[in-house]
Amino acid sequence: MAGPVVDSVYLKEIEKARRELRALISSRNCAPIMLRLAWHDAGTYDAKTKTGGPDGSIRNEEELNHSANNGLRIALSFCEEVKAKHPNITYADLFQLAGVVAVEVTGGPTIEFVPGRKDSVESPEEGRLPDAKQGVSHLKDIFYRMGLSDKDIVALSGGHTLGKAHPERSGFDGPWTREPLKFDNSYFVELLEGESEGLLKLPTDIALLEDPVFRNYVELYAKDEDAFFNDYAVSHKKLSELGFTPPSRVKDVTKSGIILAQSAVGVAVAAAVVILSYIYEGRRKAN
Ligand code: HEM
Repeated sequence: MAGPVVDSVYLKEIEKARRELRALISSRNCAPIMLRLAWHDAGTYDAKTKTGGPDGSIRNEEELNHSANNGLRIALSFCEEVKAKHPNITYADLFQLAGVVAVEVTGGPTIEFVPGRKDSVESPEEGRLPDAKQGVSHLKDIFYRMGLSDKDIVALSGGHTLGKAHPERSGFDGPWTREPLKFDNSYFVELLEGESEGLLKLPTDIALLEDPVFRNYVELYAKDEDAFFNDYAVSHKKLSELGFTPPSRVKDVTKSGIILAQSAVGVAVAAAVVILSYIYEGRRKAN
């Protein structure tokens, strides 16, 4: 399937969809499940075979029925409302945009979003997403397969600062933090605190304390929220772009944006020089 033509019309549609997603996610308090949808569409990527990834395939009935995706039909139906108003936007872009907006509206870092992903009608086989009942080596196997690093694993696990587990969906129960609609570093603070009444810790969350490299990041993010936000924004962008090369037109648009910004600075400096020399000349004449 061909990718979208990312021209100024497409970019305008993306900005409109972004505003609509902000309103929809805030009014329905659905940031956690929208973030989970984006992550589950992207997290099937296999760097070796270059299959899976953020390609909108999670909308296919076959993939939506994978047990890891239980409950995500709700998030898909919210995205369909936006898609109906902006049919040109690919599902792949829409799901990743929803993930970026979910983090933003709950107080998390700004994540750069580059559009242009293609939709795929093919779904990967079941079993590419992590199994919450396993430990360190499983986490590494799954995330290394995507081409992601230990730092990415820990930073992205911080996504559990949002939302909760539902027994009827995953068999697990409860939120990871006291404020599951606020994106902050409390997931890491709670993880280091250990068992806490009413809060959930999956075996894969506890695994982050067991590996020394993982643990260093957990400790850093628990004491330094800025470090978490910076790393999270980088890792989330990587996740949202697995197997995706932005079309050259987007690069051109971005570049011309920079050039425009540079020209604006140039014009401002030139104007200041003219004004200053005018004042100087005026003063010199007055003396
Ligand atoms: C590290 C491996 C991961 C495992 C094993 C895992 C597993 C799970 C499980 C079992 C749930 C509960 C689902 C339910 O019952 O509704 C869940 C929820 C969630 N996960 Fe993960 N997850 C992982 C990584 C991530 C990542 C990387 C993100 C995002 C960056 C993420 C975001 C979320 C969110 C936001 C929820 C809450 C959804 C809701 O409230 O409906 N998870 N995850």
